[in-house]
Amino acid sequence: MEQRIRVLLIEDNPGDARLIQELLSEAGLFSLDTVDRLDLGLKSLSQKTPDVLLLDLSLPDSHGFQTFLQVHTHAPMVPLVVLSGLVDESLALEAVRKGAQDYLVKGRVDGQMLSRVMRYAIERKGTEERLKQANERLKKLDELKSNFISAASHELRTPLTAIKGYVAIVLQERVGKLNDQQKEFLGYVKDSTDRLHRLLDDLLDLSRIESGRVEMRMTLTDLNLLLKEEVMIFKVQADNKGILIESEIEPSLKKIYCDADKVREVMDNLISNSIKYTPKNGKIKVSARNEGNRVYIEVRDNGIGIKEEDQMRVFEPFQRINRDETEDEEGVGLGLALVKRIIEAHGGVIEVKSTEGKGSVFAIRLPVEKRGERQG
Ligand SMILES: Nc1ncnc2c1ncn2[C@@H]1O[C@H](COP(=O)(O)OP(=O)(O)OP(=O)(O)O)[C@@H](O)[C@H]1O
Ligand SMILES: [Mg+2]
Repeated sequence: MEQRIRVLLIEDNPGDARLIQELLSEAGLFSLDTVDRLDLGLKSLSQKTPDVLLLDLSLPDSHGFQTFLQVHTHAPMVPLVVLSGLVDESLALEAVRKGAQDYLVKGRVDGQMLSRVMRYAIERKGTEERLKQANERLKKLDELKSNFISAASHELRTPLTAIKGYVAIVLQERVGKLNDQQKEFLGYVKDSTDRLHRLLDDLLDLSRIESGRVEMRMTLTDLNLLLKEEVMIFKVQADNKGILIESEIEPSLKKIYCDADKVREVMDNLISNSIKYTPKNGKIKVSARNEGNRVYIEVRDNGIGIKEEDQMRVFEPFQRINRDETEDEEGVGLGLALVKRIIEAHGGVIEVKSTEGKGSVFAIRLPVEKRGERQG
């Protein structure tokens, strides 16, 4: 014999309650408990858990959305169907958005419908719970992955530091003279280990930020100065490629609370990308201006650009686009992932606007006011 479905009905109108009772007994499969006040409903829920809950939102001791909230917080795991009148249908919909499984409009319910809605509510709740659990498991896995990356890159840095140190000593000829070819080859070793070191740093940073373990050291910062310095730093690199780099910074640019080192890292990544992905004789412009209680910063280039469909992807780790044209440019695709996470940890946003073949604009908005000291 099929198990009966236990229904708790919280409804103060005797007529409505009676109707539900009749419809359910017609269907046969249900056993029904009825209470006519919220407090009695909550009490009943504490004593035994029904398979499904039918809830009228206007009760003698609670009204409207509040009724749903109280019941749902009290028994979040119980499938819940809201009973609504025609006038408060929008309330019922809101309840569905906030976690109810379904709603019924009084006076428009027949036995078949009622029984179908109840079974469906139970099924749906079950599916939601399973999805939630699957999601939790994924989150755990993701965390595990971040921890693994973080531990691995940390461990790899130690031997690498030793390699770098010894290569430097040998290259400086502190332990004997080198011939030209030995020097050349060791030079390549040095470049590669430097690159590896940077890569590990990026990986470590990324996993730290993702796991919320990075502490932003917020200080009042003069971005005007910082941005001009950044442009200066890249001047040589740009010149070497025949690229013009300039800045246009509002003189009265507001000072903002931020982690200056991290913002430098952001600018390093954006500007070096612009240089990487802009052909000879190109142009790069870094500008900044006040925008209400935010500061707007952009890095604009007239380089190869990014296809519309690739633009969202560039902020995800290990995404590299335009491989053919930029094959000779090194990189693993971590720069922009890091940039986005740093900006978001500051409560800011970053956007890209780009046209393939024409150029790209990376636009940042950072809040001026002081925010929480620790942000992840
Ligand atoms: N200014 C730009 N113009 C055109 N494409 C760009 C620009 N900036 C980024 N991209 C594209 O977005 C991809 C991701 O950029 P990101 O900085 O994350 O990685 P990367 O530069 O390839 O490597 P890394 O920064 O880790 O050394 C790049 O590979 C490139 O295809
Ligand atoms: Mg990059």
